[in-house]
Amino acid sequence: MTGTTHLPIRLRDTDRHALTQHFLALDADDRRLRFGASIADDGIRALDERIDFERDEIFGIAGDDLRLLAVVHVAFYPTKAELGLSVLPEARGRGFGNALFSRAVMHLTNRGVREVFVHCLNENGAMMHLAHKNGMRVVREGSEADAYLELPRATPGSVLSEWVWDQNARFAHDVRRGTRAVLDALVAIRPRPAR
Ligand SMILES: CC(C)(COP(=O)(O)OP(=O)(O)OC[C@H]1O[C@@H](n2cnc3c(N)ncnc32)[C@H](O)[C@@H]1OP(=O)(O)O)[C@@H](O)C(=O)NCCC(=O)NCCS
Repeated sequence: MTGTTHLPIRLRDTDRHALTQHFLALDADDRRLRFGASIADDGIRALDERIDFERDEIFGIAGDDLRLLAVVHVAFYPTKAELGLSVLPEARGRGFGNALFSRAVMHLTNRGVREVFVHCLNENGAMMHLAHKNGMRVVREGSEADAYLELPRATPGSVLSEWVWDQNARFAHDVRRGTRAVLDALVAIRPRPAR
C-alpha cells in the first residue's frame, strides 16, 4: 500500500517535462517492458510530445523532491481503455504500481468504460503478478500477453469516492510542493561561509 502522502494525482500539460524526465529515467530494459521496444532518448522525447492531455488521462505519484516516481497512462479506444504503467526502479515494491492501477480503474469506471487492458511481455513477472492480483484475464500470444479486466458500472458511491481521492491527493501534493519551495528558499538565503 502507498502511504497517505503518496497518492496518485492527475497530471496536466504543465507536467510534461516531469513526465519526460520520468520516462528518460527508465533504462533500456524497462523501456522495452513499458513500450515494447528499447526506445532511445530522442524517441522518448518525441513520444512525450505526442501525448495528448485532453484526450488521454495520466496519473502520477511524486516523491518528496517532486520527481515523478510512478506513472500510468490511460489511452482510450471506442469500447475500452489501455493502461501503460511505469515505476522507477528505486520506488518499486512499495505498492505504487497497484495504486496507479486502482486509480485508473476508478477513473474509467466513473466514465462508463466497461473494459480495460494492459499489453505486456510474458516475461514481465511484476506486471503478470499485478494482473493476476487484480483478477485480470490474461491472454497470451507468443512472447506477449494482454490482460483484460471487465469494469463495474459507476455508482454515486464510486463517483464520490473518486472526488474524495482527488481532494486528498491534490492536498498532499500541494503540501509537498509548498514544503519543497520553503526548503529551496532556505537553501537560497543560507549565509555562505566567508572565504
Ligand atoms: C510493473 C511495475 C509497474 C510494477 O510496479 P511496482 O510499484 O513495483 O508494483 P507494486 O509494488 O504495486 O507491486 C508489485 C508486485 O509484483 C511483485 N513482483 C515484483 N517482481 C516480480 C517478479 N519478477 N515476478 C513476480 N512478482 C513480482 C511484487 O512482490 C509485488 O507483489 P505484492 O504487491 O503482492 O507484494 C514496475 O515493475 C515497472 O515499472 N516495470 C517496468 C515497466 C513495465 O513493465 N510496465 C508494465 C507494462 S505496461
